Amino acid sequence: MTTAEELELPVARKCPFAPPEEYTQIREEQPITRVKIPDGKEAWVVSRHEDVRTVLNDRRFSSDRFNENFPILVKGGNVFRRSNAERTMITMDAPEHGPARKSVLGEFTVKRVNAMRPRIQEIVDKLVDDILAAEGPVDLVEALSLPVPSLVICELLGVPYTEHDFFQENTAKLLKRTVSFDERQAAFENVRGYLSRLITTKEAAPGDDLLGRQIVKLRSEGTYEHGAVLGLAFLLLVAGHETTANMISLGTVGLLQNPSQLDAIKADPGKTLDAVEELLRYFTIVDTATARVAVEDVELGGVTIRSGEGVLALGYTANWDPTVFDEPAKLDITRGARHHVAFGFGPHQCLGQNLARAELQIVFDTLFRRIPSLRLAVDVDDLPFKSDASIYGLYRLPVTW
Ligand code: HEM
Repeated sequence: MTTAEELELPVARKCPFAPPEEYTQIREEQPITRVKIPDGKEAWVVSRHEDVRTVLNDRRFSSDRFNENFPILVKGGNVFRRSNAERTMITMDAPEHGPARKSVLGEFTVKRVNAMRPRIQEIVDKLVDDILAAEGPVDLVEALSLPVPSLVICELLGVPYTEHDFFQENTAKLLKRTVSFDERQAAFENVRGYLSRLITTKEAAPGDDLLGRQIVKLRSEGTYEHGAVLGLAFLLLVAGHETTANMISLGTVGLLQNPSQLDAIKADPGKTLDAVEELLRYFTIVDTATARVAVEDVELGGVTIRSGEGVLALGYTANWDPTVFDEPAKLDITRGARHHVAFGFGPHQCLGQNLARAELQIVFDTLFRRIPSLRLAVDVDDLPFKSDASIYGLYRLPVTW
């Protein structure tokens, strides 16, 4: 095996049900070390649960993706920087970050998400009706995993769902590491252009949807800017559907591969939320978004990370850290995995986590209650996993019953 200094991160997942062995080796042998990254530079990788949480909760590590030293994990550079894109909360640090997040936080509280549950249930039921009518096999990605979060986020934002093919095609290009820089930039500009026109329409007649409500609120506070709402729309649209969609697909496979765990939630749907938490830990689908750049010198675990150096806080190794999660390779819905970092940690911890949990819970409960004999229609080794994308998942998931 190559030494950590020769290793380039991110390493593609070879086995869909465990971190790459290089990651485990780093955590065990050199938990804070330097590695190569695709933009030709080097960065620190931090791999233990405790250190990952420290980095993500320390203001000396910046989220500013426009900082020229911010580690870029795709070849060709940073699309957002080159396009001079709008700054959104995910790229901001204190004191700017707090107000930007607070402005929209009320839309994602447990109470607000609970109010969305009947509509999410209706969406899932209709899609499961269509699956049952199709008589199998069907591709679950197309039939359920993508449409659930896409419909939910489009309705919440006030973006016409009729455009979902256009969004999905373009976001898929943005997230695929093998797509060329020019193609990624074109995909970015396509979605950005569309959303900019949509927001201009909403400015003339803001409706009762998240974007409309933001326009009204920010105008009343005297701080309205077209670009800020455009950035927010882009962030929520991309963050809101690809992530949850991939967790629906992987979670389904994870449960089908672990029948005792699946039987436990079938027997007691009260356990589904625990299963969701454990599946989030087990797959940790977003582990490169939690990169940072040091803006001061920081002593951490016996090394000095210098101001201007990039840091990858590796959520996947943190969530499989055996000092925190006993037998991490075991999918165990009774372990109470709530302190996982699959949604990040600290000030940037996922804004949409309550919504994602609700969608996943409703989907798994409904899917396995209404189609109890659901099974894979192909061998698990033949499933097309997204080992080339910055959000892990599945391209297709053929199932039958
Ligand atoms: C941030 C994961 C679903 C909106 C994050 C971060 C992670 C993450 C790891 C932290 C990034 C960082 O520290 O730099 C996930 C996963 C999801 C999911 C695994 C689904 C299973 C969603 C949904 C939405 C959303 C449904 C919105 C509708 C956001 C936003 C941020 C964020 C706005 C930035 C928050 C901030 O910077 O303050 N997410 N996410 N996410 N997520 Fe999610």
